[in-house]
Amino acid sequence: MERENFGNRFGVLVAMAGSAVGLGNLWRFPYLVGSYGGAAFIFVYIIFAFILCLPILISEAIVGRRSRSNAYGAFKKLAPGTKWKWLGAVSVFTPIIVVSYYSVIGGWSLEYFFKACTFSFTGGTTQSELGSMFDNFITSVWAPLFGHTLFLLLTGIVIIAGVKSGIEKFGKIMMPLLFVLVIIMAIRSMTLPGATEGLVYLFKPDFSKIDASVCSAALGQAFFSLSLGVGTMLTYGSYIKKSENLAASSTYTAVADFLFAMIASCAIMPAVFAFGLNPQEGPGLVFQTLPFIFSNMTMGGIIAIIFFLALIVAAITSSISLYEVGVAYLVEERKMSRKWSSAVVFVVAWVMGALCSLSFGPLSDVHILGQTIFNFFDKLSANFLMPLGGLLLVLFVGWKMTKADVFDEFTNGGTLSANRRIFNFVWFLIRYVCPIAVLVVFLSAFIF
Ligand code: PHE
Repeated sequence: MERENFGNRFGVLVAMAGSAVGLGNLWRFPYLVGSYGGAAFIFVYIIFAFILCLPILISEAIVGRRSRSNAYGAFKKLAPGTKWKWLGAVSVFTPIIVVSYYSVIGGWSLEYFFKACTFSFTGGTTQSELGSMFDNFITSVWAPLFGHTLFLLLTGIVIIAGVKSGIEKFGKIMMPLLFVLVIIMAIRSMTLPGATEGLVYLFKPDFSKIDASVCSAALGQAFFSLSLGVGTMLTYGSYIKKSENLAASSTYTAVADFLFAMIASCAIMPAVFAFGLNPQEGPGLVFQTLPFIFSNMTMGGIIAIIFFLALIVAAITSSISLYEVGVAYLVEERKMSRKWSSAVVFVVAWVMGALCSLSFGPLSDVHILGQTIFNFFDKLSANFLMPLGGLLLVLFVGWKMTKADVFDEFTNGGTLSANRRIFNFVWFLIRYVCPIAVLVVFLSAFIF
């Protein structure tokens, strides 16, 4: 069977940006900015995202397109008979863990979207009411499980439709919609009385706030936000035609991802300040602080619907990319049909996600290495498997592949003159700078 490709440049961009832009931008980035001192965190983030993570993103795409294979097959093909296939195995396994807990939060977003549609966030609901609403919801059994199941099903449906008519088409409609939704929110938030303080917080850096924990959080976030180290960009890279410019598509993806995170922060922080709330709210920011703001601002009911719709759309385009890694592996290596492969990934992710979901309620006493199941999966992947995957990948491209092969992919056989000019610089980053820096985040997971 012939392998599918993304149709055109815009298709590549929406797929890659769709993977990158997700809960990481709308939920994780704003609360990290809040917790780690505003603009100073953003400043460090920019450096890490563009100098360290962008070359890794390009490297993943290079491995994918060079091999034209799924995340496991790629290493078998490019380094036959070596232990590198174990990196492939990790790259197939990790996204399934990520999609399982990602889908739980996706399910929460669905629930909050329904709540917003029934105008639960209007009429001055208090913070403590919203706090207990959230706690009651996540600790219950059925409602979050239902959300998780529905979210995973929606993801699976897009996957079954295929690379071009599923992933690419969905992205082409949803990504522009997503930008529009968040821009509307940002405008509303920035025009609230007292919003300027939030903007100052976002744009005026206090460099004295930069320390090791800020750096480690920023690098971890850049990794997560650009979907690195889990085989997703590799798999998407394998669907990119030989005529496309990999470095350009990766750069646009990183720019879109960063812009989106900034617009999302402009939609959230000014409102947080305008209402005199604490920006250091942490993970509860999106599900507790924001609903409070929506409940108490003019037009808040509508803005709540827009926000949670955006959260769902952003989350689905990312979970699709995680889901696709396992499906591509099963189709190509196990010769299963796309439908059956999707069903298998669904079942595995559903079971693991159900355990995560229940770990907020009935299974809250079950601990793995001192963590609840949800936190264990989250930490295992974000702090351990993702940086490990990214580190090994960049070592693979820098030290195992030949310079000639990497040059060939980077410059499309020497035909892209701008890429030819920057190649040596990127090669230096890939060989030396990226591995050392990633090693630092990787080790920092054990130290902090
Ligand atoms: N980048 C996604 C986000 O920001 C998360 C993700 C991580 C997606 C890894 C795919 C792979 O939400």
